[in-house]
Amino acid sequence: MTNDNRKLRFLSAADVRRALPMPEAITVMKAAFRELSENRAVVPLRTHVPMPEHRGDVLVMPAYSPGTARFGLKVITLFENNPALKLPFIQAMVMVFDTATGSPVAIMEGTSLTAIRSGAASGAATDFLACKDARKVAIFGAGIQARTQLEAVCAVRTIREASVFDHDRARAAAFAREATAAFGITVSVAPSSAAALDGAAVVCTATTSATPVFADHEVAPGTHINAIGSYKPHMREIPPETVVRALVVVDQHAAAWEEAGDLILPLHAGLIQADHVHAELGEIAAGSKPGRTHRDTVTFFKSVGIAIQDLAAASCVLANARTLGLGTEVPL
Ligand SMILES: NC(=O)c1ccc[n+]([C@@H]2O[C@H](COP(=O)([O-])OP(=O)(O)OC[C@H]3O[C@@H](n4cnc5c(N)ncnc54)[C@H](O)[C@@H]3O)[C@@H](O)[C@H]2O)c1
Repeated sequence: MTNDNRKLRFLSAADVRRALPMPEAITVMKAAFRELSENRAVVPLRTHVPMPEHRGDVLVMPAYSPGTARFGLKVITLFENNPALKLPFIQAMVMVFDTATGSPVAIMEGTSLTAIRSGAASGAATDFLACKDARKVAIFGAGIQARTQLEAVCAVRTIREASVFDHDRARAAAFAREATAAFGITVSVAPSSAAALDGAAVVCTATTSATPVFADHEVAPGTHINAIGSYKPHMREIPPETVVRALVVVDQHAAAWEEAGDLILPLHAGLIQADHVHAELGEIAAGSKPGRTHRDTVTFFKSVGIAIQDLAAASCVLANARTLGLGTEVPL
């Protein structure tokens, strides 16, 4: 005699995209970062498994949210040879468990989920920190993340124009065409970093670069920057001079000081102290720290990516998938 009616729901990339619209993802990220900063979640630092002979890294990212009674685990792979093989640089799977019983409840495609939740984090940061009248966005990198970065900024500000800069001009051109059609704004390819930044009130850097992608003097007062690319201590996208003059907000203090070269390299060079980081995004979401207080301040959100984002996004996907009847349910 058994009482075991456990079921597992499998969700594809298309299911994840349908179940996690950007505006809802931004709302979910604000709540997730707040839960993180108020120490209501258990989120160990992620484990890196380097595979240098394959130019790859695997990141193992667990999180427990008592609020949603879920445990989640994302395994994400980042393989540098993949774009040349026409494969995504990032691939991932996310598992969700019920925490009353420890039972697994869902497995979902994580590449799409990662792109949406990373865009949504920048959307939340832009909503809290960018000038309200921002009209132009500069996007650095024309890869997978770039699309959801732009989508998220468009969800929180009335954006009319975007400019994309990528060393790969063909990729930038394809991105500009696709984004113009998708978001109903003018997206053009910038011939230089300075051209991309000209008139931009919001900047998103989503590159695989290990060195700054623009010069400090190209950044106008009042600009808000979301930098999501670098995730290792030796990698950075933002010039140290910009970091020094900016109001800096991170996704999580501990993770940023472990991984964010954008902050770690200026710290080691003696250009900033650890207290240069003004706040975690969750503290601004909670109202316990202020966001932008002066129009001319350059604000800088550095994201390395936190497992609570994946768990919060996956929990939302699962709830919406059940309502919409998405995915395939199988008995365990
Ligand atoms: N913070 C987060 O939560 C988070 C989440 C996902 C990915 N990421 C990071 O975002 C970055 C981009 O990921 P992706 O999946 O879009 O990769 P991708 O390979 O699809 O795109 C990266 C693009 O950056 C361009 N690029 C590299 N150096 C450049 C430079 N100096 N100037 C302009 N463009 C440059 C490349 O030509 C490429 O088109 C990666 O570093 C990844 O680790 C961060």
